[in-house]
Amino acid sequence: MTMNLRWLGHASWWLETEQVKILIDPFLNDSPTSPVRAEELDPDYLLVSHGHADHTADVESIARRTGAMVIGVFELVEYYGRKGIENRLGMNIGGQVELPFGSLKMVRAEHSSSFPDGTYAGCPAGFVISIDTRRIYFACDTGLFRDMQLIGADGLDLAVLPIGDLFTMGPAESVQATEWLAPRQVLPAHYNTWPPIEQDPQAWAEQIRSQTGAEPIVLEPGEIHRF
Ligand code: NI
Ligand code: MN
Repeated sequence: MTMNLRWLGHASWWLETEQVKILIDPFLNDSPTSPVRAEELDPDYLLVSHGHADHTADVESIARRTGAMVIGVFELVEYYGRKGIENRLGMNIGGQVELPFGSLKMVRAEHSSSFPDGTYAGCPAGFVISIDTRRIYFACDTGLFRDMQLIGADGLDLAVLPIGDLFTMGPAESVQATEWLAPRQVLPAHYNTWPPIEQDPQAWAEQIRSQTGAEPIVLEPGEIHRF
């Protein structure tokens, strides 16, 4: 089975197979680099890693229009419940759930999490998505943590890691993360959206090639990685 992973700029991703369309951390209409408008997307599932605006800006409008299931940590999902979003699934760190497309596991992330209005959004999270024999890890917003070795222990086809620094780990730490995760392929995210998180993805890719066993995949916003 072929899977398509499209970078929608910043930390927003579109994962699509013949069976399912998953949108992760939609920050689109206010993003300087998004190739799409929120109105164009019709996901089945909306995965939300934490409450910050650069991950949640378009969650409510897309959920309301499409009825996509909003999945995130319990407190975050209840926030959308209070806004009238009915199709939702709250999880917490370490939990796994079987869904029609495969399984989804919520893993820890070293970050903070609140909504722009100050509402507590629970703890930040990352996701491991298993579809057929494929396992994909979205680290989302996080610093480096040693337990990434455990996340990679069962084998990963693909890992998506932040490299922007300042708010998340930077390029050097994401190379260390790649060593610990040992994925087949690794994609950078959360960089070059604004000047404070400018990075050179080709220099990063060179480091990944020389220091890890993973293949770096650098996309432009809007580009699709098929695997
Ligand atoms: Ni954040
Ligand atoms: Mn962020």
